[in-house]
Amino acid sequence: MLAEYLVTIATLVAGASACQRDFNVAARHTHRQALSKRNDEWPPVLDDQETLLVNAFDNVTIDEWSHYYGYQNKLAGYGREAAQWTADRWSENGVDAHLSEYHVYFRYPVSASLSFTGADGQQQEVNLKEPVLEDDEATGFDVISQQTFLGYSPSGNAEAEYIYAGRGSIDDFERLVELGVSFEGKIALIKYGGLFRGLKVKNAQDHGAIAAVLFSDPGDDGNMTVANGYEAYPDGPARSPHSVQKGSTLFLSTSPGDPTTPGYPSHKDAPRADTSEVIAKIPSIPISYAAAEPLLKALDGHGLSAQQVNRTRWVGGLDAEYSSGPAPNVKLALDVVSREEIRPIHNVIGHINGTNPDETIVIGNHRDTWMVQGGNGDPNSGSAVLVEFTRAINKLRASGWQPKRNIVLASWDAEEWGLIGSTEWVEEHVDWLTDTAVAYLNIDVAVSGPRPNLATTPELHTLATNMMKKVVHPNFGGYNRSLYDAWHDVSGGVVDVLGSGSDYTPFLHRGISSFDVGSSGGANDPVWHYHSNYDTYHWMATLGDPGFSLHASQGQYLALVAYHLASDDILPIDTQNYAAELRAYYEDLAEFASEEGADLDLSELDQAINQFKDSADQVKALETLAIERDDEALKTVVNHKYRDFQRGFISQGGLPNREFYKHVVTAPGLDTGYAAVTFPGITEGVQYAENGDFAVAQEWVSKTARGIAVAAGILKT
Ligand SMILES: *[C@@H]1O[C@H](CO)[C@@H](O)[C@H](O)[C@H]1NC(C)=O
Ligand SMILES: *[C@@H]1O[C@H](CO)[C@@H](O)[C@H](O)[C@H]1NC(C)=O
Ligand SMILES: *[C@@H]1O[C@H](CO)[C@@H](O)[C@H](O)[C@H]1NC(C)=O
Ligand SMILES: *[C@@H]1O[C@H](CO)[C@@H](O)[C@H](O)[C@H]1NC(C)=O
Ligand SMILES: *[C@@H]1O[C@H](CO)[C@@H](O)[C@H](O)[C@H]1NC(C)=O
Ligand SMILES: [Zn+2]
Repeated sequence: MLAEYLVTIATLVAGASACQRDFNVAARHTHRQALSKRNDEWPPVLDDQETLLVNAFDNVTIDEWSHYYGYQNKLAGYGREAAQWTADRWSENGVDAHLSEYHVYFRYPVSASLSFTGADGQQQEVNLKEPVLEDDEATGFDVISQQTFLGYSPSGNAEAEYIYAGRGSIDDFERLVELGVSFEGKIALIKYGGLFRGLKVKNAQDHGAIAAVLFSDPGDDGNMTVANGYEAYPDGPARSPHSVQKGSTLFLSTSPGDPTTPGYPSHKDAPRADTSEVIAKIPSIPISYAAAEPLLKALDGHGLSAQQVNRTRWVGGLDAEYSSGPAPNVKLALDVVSREEIRPIHNVIGHINGTNPDETIVIGNHRDTWMVQGGNGDPNSGSAVLVEFTRAINKLRASGWQPKRNIVLASWDAEEWGLIGSTEWVEEHVDWLTDTAVAYLNIDVAVSGPRPNLATTPELHTLATNMMKKVVHPNFGGYNRSLYDAWHDVSGGVVDVLGSGSDYTPFLHRGISSFDVGSSGGANDPVWHYHSNYDTYHWMATLGDPGFSLHASQGQYLALVAYHLASDDILPIDTQNYAAELRAYYEDLAEFASEEGADLDLSELDQAINQFKDSADQVKALETLAIERDDEALKTVVNHKYRDFQRGFISQGGLPNREFYKHVVTAPGLDTGYAAVTFPGITEGVQYAENGDFAVAQEWVSKTARGIAVAAGILKT
């Protein structure tokens, strides 16, 4: 996962809607209908094949796979051995697997240093290393390459006074500028959380900063903190004060994939494009909260106080006032050396052919990590589940079952750097996917805590929530509770809207139904060390999921969803729910536009949504008829409409200033990088309008309406 889950953060504050509002005023979903809480059947009723599939998940073998991945080098560009191992395991389970190679542009770390000069003129080095833990051998592997860094940071040095910029959103920077703070020639000190880290660096750069330092803050860790008396990892569940979050600084909200090959696959001799608009020009570095505390404290009483800034979550959990600074002569000096290289990456692609060659389900998980070893939450939990999935499907096939639809399995490389393996593969196979893809199912951080997360495109809500009712959650809120019960407690019964942050993105933005599942920790669960050397097998086996039972339930769930998509006579796709969601997004938009004083004419959009609803009702009636008559030809007609209708939502030129993102109904917010914005062309046209000029928003009312009308036309009978 390249971005932290929104849900985790939401649980720490005041509920999802308040939280999303702060990230992005436009990302609220107040008109959506929550599903009811009651789980109708206990124990869940499963048919024979479902039972076989669910029983095939074995925590002992999952543990074995997690252990394997936890001690392998999986850094993108250096992970071929783990790719081959994955292909071998899949092949043993009857999947026809091969490696798919691309040649990708990276900037790898060489060295970095940071020093701090206090008001007394004394200079000292800031610790950038994560100490090796005696209890956790994975943290000690190849210490030289374990250095902390931010992917794609350029080489560079900077010495200057520094300013605390909150979470580094556009709103944070603008607020400081409005109050008279200037970032010109300064270094920005930015807290993690909220928006994608690459956008924090971008915003710093856009406001004149010459470098950025990003830090973790225990204020985002809920109750499980050292300040609350919990011991830090490895002695207890709190965050290690020395853990550092690595990660990519690519400008995710405009351009995922290999930054040198926008829109086409990065084969060895592919032409390479200029990257200056999608990669930061200023150097950046991540630090731990122990390292950040004295830097923040040195700003106390200088510049603006937190109260004057008056932004939510400006103040974190460190012993400092969170003043903006700068403080006279209090400086940072940063020196980052990175090296550029084009290196081969390896996706693993596996095929199980269906009896219908023209319908395909793709199931993917990335395999690469930031750490040389480790990554047992992100993404080894998903990778272990996927290996186990091949065992389970193989058992089902041994019982005589054959999928109707092709199943393609993917273990993506270089997701962490910017969804690169999946994006390059989609760019290479886009015609075949456009012709045959029914859905893309993603599993990334299958487990980093007990709270289920679910985000899907609306036509998959019904299938996704029904299947959760068939899986037992091993340990959430008492005995005999299903995954659905746990998910309902966490989500309030509303399936998240897909933004970005994992490998479903290139599929969704080519008009393919998409699904993303995982689970994470809340305010009272052990803190997971996201993108740190401490995301290890030892953490997972002792704190995250002792016994690997959460892994098993996530696998059972994924398998049930995949099984129904691959086998059901009629695809379990609910376009009537898509119509209902479009209407809810419309109500949200109308409210937002009016609050922003945008006098838009939304009638075209309104009509298109009505037209879509009529078509969804018609195709449902046709589905009923096809079942009643048991008419194979008619079923195929219905299935192909379900497979294809999302293609209508794709706008050929892409969204304004970001051609990669083409879906007119949802996209990651420009300044969030992952939290979703609905009707992005219109909503962001309002949000970023200058001087009350809403022409772009009005133009996108028409473009959005046209996309919805095309989708309606595909469904129409
Ligand atoms: C859990 O459900 C089973 C039936 O599946 C039942 O026999 C058992 O008593 C239940 N346990 C609790 C603690 O409710
Ligand atoms: C933190 O713990 C306290 C006491 O157990 C509890 O009341 C509170 O709800 C917890 N906070 C969150 C965000 O769960
Ligand atoms: C802080 O902002 C809120 C709205 O976001 C406003 O209601 C409040 O008056 C502000 N407080 C100060 C001290 O400016
Ligand atoms: C699966 O289908 C593809 C093309 O449709 C074919 O090339 C391949 O040989 C088939 N694989 C198996 C194992 O049948
Ligand atoms: C598998 O689960 C069982 C029952 O929950 C547990 O006793 C066992 O320790 C687990 N095995 C592993 C390898 O985690
Ligand atoms: Zn991941």
